Amino acid sequence: MLANRRIVLGVTGGIAAYKAVLLCRMLVDAGAHVIPVMTESAQRFVGKATFDALASEPARTSIFDDPDPIPHTTLGQTADLIVVAPATARIIGSYASGISDDLLTATLIATRAPVVICPAMHTEMWEHPAVQDNLKLLEQRGVHLVAPEEGHLAGGDLGAGRLAAPEAIYEAIENTLSNGDLQGRTVLVTAGGTREAIDPVRYVGNRSTGKQGYAVAEAAKARGATVTLISTVAAAAPNGVEVVRVESAAQMHAAVLERSEADVIVMTAAVADFRPVTASDSKIKKVEGPPKLKLEPTPDILAELGALKKPGQVIVGFAAETEDLASHAQSKLERKNVDVIVANDVSAPEVGFAYDTNEVTIFVADGCQRHVSLRSKRQIAEEVLDTVGQILVR
Ligand code: C5P
Repeated sequence: MLANRRIVLGVTGGIAAYKAVLLCRMLVDAGAHVIPVMTESAQRFVGKATFDALASEPARTSIFDDPDPIPHTTLGQTADLIVVAPATARIIGSYASGISDDLLTATLIATRAPVVICPAMHTEMWEHPAVQDNLKLLEQRGVHLVAPEEGHLAGGDLGAGRLAAPEAIYEAIENTLSNGDLQGRTVLVTAGGTREAIDPVRYVGNRSTGKQGYAVAEAAKARGATVTLISTVAAAAPNGVEVVRVESAAQMHAAVLERSEADVIVMTAAVADFRPVTASDSKIKKVEGPPKLKLEPTPDILAELGALKKPGQVIVGFAAETEDLASHAQSKLERKNVDVIVANDVSAPEVGFAYDTNEVTIFVADGCQRHVSLRSKRQIAEEVLDTVGQILVR
């Protein structure tokens, strides 16, 4: 999603400028081309050298001391997105009034790219009608706002006005750039591990927590899709996503097939491959000794979807492997007639079940494959949906 996108990172003078350093790092790690533009007061909080070292280009600080004779128009015209984090009351006011009094305001006024503004200031300033009116005006003009949080502010104060977390700003940038490419599409996502009953209290299960599936559902929603999430976990429904709760592979099978008309189906769930042939109606007593479990295969939902696949539909499977990642993924693509297999080596550190991060290789039926290095599950979701988007427009 962010690879090779030109992002101007505006940094203004507030204590939260240190968080812009983390944001810069996250954007560069995601492959974005980041050009910091610092106001004079930003440089009192964080040194230019810090951004010079981390960003894709040295930080820019002035219209007049720049090698480019017209840096603001060059920056404004070539940016894919401008984010201002932190944004002070001063920059918000100048931008809203069209006053170009430094390189950053000049760049903001010289661009047609989407702009994300992330205010940070003391509560009194944040609540001042002038600031609120300026923000309203900017929002009416299509500027994206990442509202500040409540929390500790400079000087030990507590209240609204703390800069949003770099992760939240990163997500807003992704949402803004995704530009609704799944608008009008229906997306069905499955999440979590299934539980196959042994008796009313015991089950055969796996370590899946559903985090990757939820991230896919959230990302698809942010891209404008109508999303249904079939989930085995009790986590809160992502905003605007319909959630259908299931427990077993059989229930997931029924819920998915009922909705198999979706334009895109992402089978992120870790569906059990085997289940007890019979489940006892009552709790098996310990004194009876360990039960002899006889297992049978569950329906392979992904393979069934592949067999039923309608023209233009995109089906994505996940493959959690501990060895021979590539050959297993390739054979799954063919065997199950699916478009994409997202393979992860769940034995690697911080990868797969329960972690907030993942590292995957995306295998596409046309033979393309792409490795996505360790990053948040949301970022992995964006990469998967980028691939889906490319297949949909073919
Ligand atoms: O073949 P394997 O089970 O490793 O494939 C994993 C993929 O298949 C995942 O996308 C999972 O959701 C799906 N799957 C399924 N039905 C099963 C087992 C796995 O749809 N019974």
